[in-house]
This record gives sequence, C-alpha cells and structure tokens, in this order.
Amino acid sequence: MAAHDAAIEVEHLVAHYGSRKILDDVCFTAHQGEIMVIMGGSGSGKSTLLRHLLGLNHPTSGSIRLLGKDITRLDADQMYDLRKNMGVAFQGGALFNSMTVGENVELPLREHTRLDCNTIRIMSRMKLEVVNLSGFEDLMPAELSGGMIKRAALARAIVMDPRLLFFDEPSAGLDPVASAELDELILMLRDAMNMTIVVVTHELESAFKIADRITVLDHGRILMSDRAEAVRQSDHPRIRSLLDRTPRSDSVDPEAYLQRLTREIS
Ligand SMILES: Nc1ncnc2c1ncn2[C@@H]1O[C@H](COP(=O)(O)OP(=O)(O)O)[C@@H](O)[C@H]1O
Ligand SMILES: [Mg+2]
Repeated sequence: MAAHDAAIEVEHLVAHYGSRKILDDVCFTAHQGEIMVIMGGSGSGKSTLLRHLLGLNHPTSGSIRLLGKDITRLDADQMYDLRKNMGVAFQGGALFNSMTVGENVELPLREHTRLDCNTIRIMSRMKLEVVNLSGFEDLMPAELSGGMIKRAALARAIVMDPRLLFFDEPSAGLDPVASAELDELILMLRDAMNMTIVVVTHELESAFKIADRITVLDHGRILMSDRAEAVRQSDHPRIRSLLDRTPRSDSVDPEAYLQRLTREIS
C-alpha cells in the first residue's frame, strides 16, 4: 500500500451503529487527481463510509489517511486544518435557505480565511462561473432549480480550492440533463483543478461515465476496488447482479412475490 500518490487510504475500517456492524474490514486507496466512485445498493454503507472519510463518525477500528494524515488520530485543531483541504457537497445541496446563493458560496471563505470582503466576493463569483451560475448570486436558493442548487452547493464546496472533494449521490433527484451536466462538471474539476474526488452513487450510468476507479460496497464489505474497466468486466456474481440489475436470488421474499402475482392476475 502507501503508494506515494495516494490521496485517501482506508485500511481495515470497521464501524458500528450501536452493536450493529455497518462497515467490515473496508480497505481501498484513492489516488491523487482521480475520481473514485463508491457504489453499492441501498443500505450497503456508502453514506456511513463517507461520514467516516469526513471525520464525522469515528470508526471502531482501522485507519483513514487523507493526504498522508491518519484522521482517526488527529485532534480537533488538526482536523479543522485538514478540513480546509476538503470540500463536501451533500445530498440535497444543503444550502442555507435564508442566505443568497452568493452568500452561501462565500461562507467557507468567511469562516476559514481573513480575506477582505471584496476578495471573498470575487473568489466566490469565480467559482459560480465555474459551475455556470454567473449572475445568479443574488437569488435565494428557493428560486433555483434542483440542478442549480446542486451546482451552487458544488461552487461552495470548491471555493477554498480543496484537494479532496466529496459528493454524496450528486445526481439524486435530478433529471437526466441536469445529471449529465453535473457529471461533466465533476470531470472538469478533476482535469482543471487536479482534485481527488470521491463520489458516492448508485447511478450506474453516471458512475461509469466519471469513475477512474470504483469501490463496490455490499453489506458493509468491499467486493472490489479497482479501475472502472476492471469492475465493468468483473465476473463476480454479486457485482454482475449490481451492474446488470438482476434481482438477488437470496432476497426474494416468497410472500411478497405471491402477493405481486395475485395482484397482477386480479
Ligand atoms: N444514524 C444511524 N443509526 C443507526 N443505523 C444507521 C444510521 N445510519 C445508517 N444506518 C444503517 O446503516 C446501514 C448503512 O446505511 P447507509 O450508510 O446510509 O447506506 P447507503 O448510503 O449505502 O444507503 C443501513 O442498514 C442503515 O439502516
Ligand atoms: Mg446513502
């Protein structure tokens, strides 16, 4: 392990909610300047893994190295410093509804820097331009479409020029066009800003469009973590069933199946 270009290294991560094990011996590496997609069915532990990568949850055991630092061993001040290098765009956008789009994007700069108001405004306008939202800075989030909210949240996530960018389900709730635009933006950020980007998604099309590497989670365990092409060609039966969307044989509930049959007949 410990390749010199590793931006994120997760080793033997185990996590619980209460007594329930949610992540079991999770190991993977994301390389600098690459897009790592974390894929898996609903409830497989994707969001939980992301929360651990962000230092929001503390693991039961294992290590998480971000930019060479094991975040499970950092104190609050050290974590605060590291967070300046981390951008996060959460599911739903999570903009503050009482602030304009511009004020939302300016927020991290106000919190983490001592730049003057003018510089802050210029820097946030530049990032709004990157996400194609020039001229929208004075609108309120409620006045934006779903796709625009995601892009504004993205502008806020990158306003500090972070080296690591994290996304939870970027295309959730978006129409295909807005979703494709967001994919293009993510690719552009990797190429133009050389960011290491972690995207959690269950959208297969989007995953394969943007991923350099894919980590497949299944019931809290890693099935595979490899280059996108290797995952696409995998003949692992669980990965195939995820990719080909065939129902899992072990999850067929005979009762529900019977009910559906009878409903269809009647
Ligand atoms: N705060 C929580 N407390 C207890 N259990 C949780 C909590 N969040 C998620 N879980 C459980 O952990 C498992 C993984 O959830 P999650 O990480 O949200 O999966 P995913 O994002 O892949 O859908 C699920 O079984 C879920 O019910
Ligand atoms: Mg989730």
